[in-house]
Amino acid sequence: MEKREELYAGKAKSVFTTDDANLLVLVFRNDTSAFDGKIIEKLERKGAVNNQFNAFIMQKLSDAGIPTHYEKLLSPTESLVKRMEMIPLECVVRNFAAGSLVRRLGVEEGQELTPPTFELFLKNDALGDPMVNEFHARSFGWATDAQLDKMKELTFKVNDVLKKLFADGNMLLVDYKLEFGVFQGEIILGDEFSPDGCRLWDKETREKMDKDRFRQGLGGVIEAYEEVGKRLGMTFNYDK
Ligand code: TMP
Ligand code: ASP
Repeated sequence: MEKREELYAGKAKSVFTTDDANLLVLVFRNDTSAFDGKIIEKLERKGAVNNQFNAFIMQKLSDAGIPTHYEKLLSPTESLVKRMEMIPLECVVRNFAAGSLVRRLGVEEGQELTPPTFELFLKNDALGDPMVNEFHARSFGWATDAQLDKMKELTFKVNDVLKKLFADGNMLLVDYKLEFGVFQGEIILGDEFSPDGCRLWDKETREKMDKDRFRQGLGGVIEAYEEVGKRLGMTFNYDK
């Protein structure tokens, strides 16, 4: 497999074509962004930590029967993935109130949500990723009914698998964001699952162990990500 030209550079990852039209290489960079790219900083080791963290989680999800774009690790900071047509929506499930939900509804951070909520956001940095609903998705052709149903079903299935996985590491999965795409006519999970796109709290102290440490200037960002990995039994490789 040969890495060819850069197709796209996102805020934290770059995407390269390969000699196989169905496969892409994701390169996880050290760039860390918040507030829809208004703040970007380089954090040592972040590319390697997120790439390997994502590989570990995608493997767990795939073992649980959830179809994903993940194929294999290529290097500490690179993974091979299927080339999908992305659906421009972000699927968010919340088990506890935090972040924009707290700001929007004036509820208390940390309130447990039973049942968990599901929200859709449009992937559009210029507009600040506005919240949208399923009617918008259908009217603007972002996703069909059948695709929305599948995305919801898979997003909640991910919740079942990951709530348990993080609980076994003494952590609460507060919320997370997933992105999906279409590969050979099927909806599959894309993008990444890492502490950049979810909230994780220590179960006892409720200490934040995710990107809120960066958003809120709490420090120890990558150290917290590494601690999450350690609690899941991971070891990271930082070779260049
Ligand atoms: P929010 O509280 O800012 O709406 O975010 C909910 C969860 O989804 C949180 O874990 C962060 C994640 N998320 C992203 O990673 N990127 C995004 O663009 C959005 C809207 C949410
Ligand atoms: N992922 C988005 C960004 O980088 C939102 C966030 O994490 O705050 O800007």
